[in-house]
Amino acid sequence: MCGIVGYLGPRSAQEVLLQGLEKLEYRGYDSAGISVAQAAGLKTGKKKGRLVHLKELMAVEDFSGTAGIGHTRWATHGKPSDDNSHPHCGNTSRFSVVHNGIIENYQDLRKMLKERGHAFSSETDTEVIPHLLEENYRGDFKQAMQDTVAQLDGAYAICAMSAEDPDTLIAVRKDSPLVAGIGQDECFVASDIPAVLKYTRDVIVFEDGDLAVITRDGMQVFTVEGEPLDKPVTKVDWDLEAAEKGGFPHFMIKEIFEQPEAVRKTLAGRIENNSVKLDLSITAEELKNINKVVVIACGTASYAGRVGRTLIEKILRIPVSVDVASEFRYMDPIVDENTLALIVSQSGETADTLAGLKEARSRGAKVVSITNVVGSSIARESDEVIYTQAGPEIAVASTKAYVTQLIAIYLLTLHLGRIKGSISDEKIGEMVQGLKELPDRIQDILARKDELIAMAEDIKDNEHVFFIGRGVDFTASLEGALKLKEISYIHAEAYAAGELKHGTLALIEEGTPVIAISTQSHLREKTISNIKEVKARGAKVFSLCFHDCEGMELESDSLFGLPSTQEVLAPVVTVIPLQMLAYYVSVARGNDVDKPRNLAKSVTVE
Ligand code: AGP
Repeated sequence: MCGIVGYLGPRSAQEVLLQGLEKLEYRGYDSAGISVAQAAGLKTGKKKGRLVHLKELMAVEDFSGTAGIGHTRWATHGKPSDDNSHPHCGNTSRFSVVHNGIIENYQDLRKMLKERGHAFSSETDTEVIPHLLEENYRGDFKQAMQDTVAQLDGAYAICAMSAEDPDTLIAVRKDSPLVAGIGQDECFVASDIPAVLKYTRDVIVFEDGDLAVITRDGMQVFTVEGEPLDKPVTKVDWDLEAAEKGGFPHFMIKEIFEQPEAVRKTLAGRIENNSVKLDLSITAEELKNINKVVVIACGTASYAGRVGRTLIEKILRIPVSVDVASEFRYMDPIVDENTLALIVSQSGETADTLAGLKEARSRGAKVVSITNVVGSSIARESDEVIYTQAGPEIAVASTKAYVTQLIAIYLLTLHLGRIKGSISDEKIGEMVQGLKELPDRIQDILARKDELIAMAEDIKDNEHVFFIGRGVDFTASLEGALKLKEISYIHAEAYAAGELKHGTLALIEEGTPVIAISTQSHLREKTISNIKEVKARGAKVFSLCFHDCEGMELESDSLFGLPSTQEVLAPVVTVIPLQMLAYYVSVARGNDVDKPRNLAKSVTVE
């Protein structure tokens, strides 16, 4: 996620801004910039890459001043570059703006502004904001901002300056975090608390619709409609490390709890009138010639690809193969110009996956990628890219990236199904409605963490844990086993439930924990008979199923009822308790949850 810092007070603004941006580096970014108010107007400097490049610029140019805004950018629209970095200043540089979030209607706004003579210097959604301020300014900065945000759809945390009002900052928040730090005769604005802790622990956490006007006399907060508000000041007692994790003990659990928001952001701007709206150029004609899909990915991303296989074959009736990239690249794959290669990668830098992409493309495949990093190597090498909007994922164990990959796959499949005419608008509408409800269903599970903590207590001392399921529940088992083994170091394996009797059943003995997943009603009876098989050999069965999982209670030692959703969307809700279980087991075993032994967040070597 992008990082915002603003300052107005007696100190050197550039010093405060840089310090604040450094404290927000953990959020992940690909460029940075600042603006300060000077006698000659607003002075802006911004550079692609790490903060060090911005510092080099500030060492050779004058950025003195005691009012300013700063930004670290995590690219969502437009590749990492100097021009796409924030702050953005419009045509006349009368305004300077930093923003975190997604302006969903930015294309329409750009079109309207261009028709009024505005020229844009970046590919970003953010740049429409200073241009709108120029359009709306009639001598009152606050009014101009009120009129501007009234034209924005989407999520935004904004901090802005005006050359006409050099001793004023305006901050506004909707669906993207923003806080203010209150000091002695000075005010700070930031995306997150760590950026202000050096100077003050008195913090105001803005809520959606808050608009703050900061001057040398202090800060006043209003609703965006202009009603004055009285905001409570919170004394923050976190240490800095805790603050970077938003008060959570680890990045992984923070990212697990960010999943409702990550799903909302990934859906934002892509569903309209109960249908799907993806910015893809694949035509019906091209789709007609696609007779095969190959999914290429590694680890957790490959399991998202497996869910994709089930979905694409069900809705598009096109055969799909899923291969881990390290195998695909050397298997002399049967790929040609009638193949669609679907690449899934959080980092967009996994060496095997990138090599698999190039192998598929060299054989004529059309390449569509799903990735979380704008401008990543995989994104750049693809014909089409669908970005997940999970924000930076810091923990090695992938959670919110996986869930947003699933969301992207649902959107892609529905989009292609609509083009191909292989799914009715009614069915699309039904699934879109289900997708929109997922953030709340995920939240329902997050609220039940005590049940997962208890389950973790039951299995934390075991040497072996088995996960079983059929169909998409087998895929969920694979992801659940990977989550558990990579952060708890317990030997965890997933098996197609019907496969146990072909050998693995020999490993089941008294007390062996088996996590049985059953969300698909047409497979329920078969899964129950597999549960009976392991129970008969002494297994301790933890079942994961929908609330109405009739027949499972009798056979399970413990049962976690999933909040009901459409069965086709079950992979999204099923993985949440599995992530939490793995997390709490790892914590119980005293492991380094965020940085497990032997592993890297992005495997950029073969
Ligand atoms: C998942 O928890 C692991 N961190 C790992 O399996 C990961 O999913 C895999 O390395 C792929 O990474 P990518 O999505 O960045 O390509």
